Amino acid sequence: MASLEEQFEQALMEIQLADSGKHLLDAEAVTECIVAGENVTITLDLPSDEQLRKSISEQVENRFMQIEGIASVRIQMADQPGNGGQAPPSQEAPGVPRAPQRPQRQTYLENYDAIIAVSSGKGGVGKSTVSVNLAVTLVKMGHKVSLFDSDIYGPSIPIMMGLRSSKPQMEGDAIVPLEKYGVSLMSIGNLVEESAATIWRGPIVHQVIEQLLRDTKWPGGEFMIIDLPPGTGDAQLTLTQLLEITGALIVSTPQDVALLDALKGVSMFNKVDVPILGLVENMSGFVCPHCNEETPIFDKGNAQRASGQHNVPFLGRVPIELAIREGGDNGAPVATSKEETNTSKAFKEIAENLITELNNL
Ligand SMILES: Nc1ncnc2c1ncn2[C@@H]1O[C@H](COP(=O)(O)OP(=O)(O)OP(=O)(O)O)[C@@H](O)[C@H]1O
Ligand SMILES: [Mg+2]
Repeated sequence: MASLEEQFEQALMEIQLADSGKHLLDAEAVTECIVAGENVTITLDLPSDEQLRKSISEQVENRFMQIEGIASVRIQMADQPGNGGQAPPSQEAPGVPRAPQRPQRQTYLENYDAIIAVSSGKGGVGKSTVSVNLAVTLVKMGHKVSLFDSDIYGPSIPIMMGLRSSKPQMEGDAIVPLEKYGVSLMSIGNLVEESAATIWRGPIVHQVIEQLLRDTKWPGGEFMIIDLPPGTGDAQLTLTQLLEITGALIVSTPQDVALLDALKGVSMFNKVDVPILGLVENMSGFVCPHCNEETPIFDKGNAQRASGQHNVPFLGRVPIELAIREGGDNGAPVATSKEETNTSKAFKEIAENLITELNNL
């Protein structure tokens, strides 16, 4: 059976905007769709014609009620106070996006010495793992570090940092970042219900990221680490528009397919003039904890070779290790361990090489 997201998309594609002939998805008329249990709230961005709004709202409601598992449908308009930009953040549920009030060229996070975007072309290669361990390692080295989860489709920072059910405090209109292992952090996962299947469309990605950057009381410091979603899509574009990113750190596994995608990421950052600080080869060889023999499950060394060929600094390798996966799932990144292990040394080396590259900029 199709996923809920696919069923929603199908439903929205069946409803047309009479004037343009486009369906609601193509017309980008849906700015938000949040599911909490059996209840769905849909925000529509429609022309001001009341008749049209009424008719489209009814069609959406009727069609969504036919979807199995949906018991109530609430429709709201993006430009109405409370759903839109007019209301201050304290009057909305935190994390619920507002209508765009985009300044021409506003940049955020100016109180950080370095803003590092952790990126990859391919999903699942270890961006979030590298982000959390790098942040913790930099704290251990004595730096003041923040971590921002810009993956609003699949935020994994709350789980990896052991803050799964933590909600941030509000201070007036501002969100106070959470803090763990000495790292200040914020993620959409700490604002919306975990059970909520969230469908964000392109314009909303921009709004949510901007709101999290603007409304969070970021404390400033030496490093802001930004965990990106995979690929070269909306979030990447938004961040390059909203921030003066100091540099990108690209994570790849050693496989050719992952490296090919990683190089696409390199060329995207080159196009928008964001320097590449370097490549990290993750899941690079597996050392058997019993016999100490190394098996190159996803191959090994290819990222280092590719970085040489493409003139991208190589920052280091992280092996495949059960403890890394467990640390991620248990909310205690391996770098938090007091013992010095090969893996914690690997992250320290990556952090040191990163600082060298920053100093070379
Ligand atoms: N070096 C490693 N050894 C063992 N497991 C790892 C390693 N790196 C990452 N993992 C595990 O692989 C999975 C994917 O990693 P992670 O979530 O960091 O990737 P990602 O690139 O952020 O994924 P996404 O593209 O979905 O955001 C996680 O379960 C993580 O614990
Ligand atoms: Mg991730």
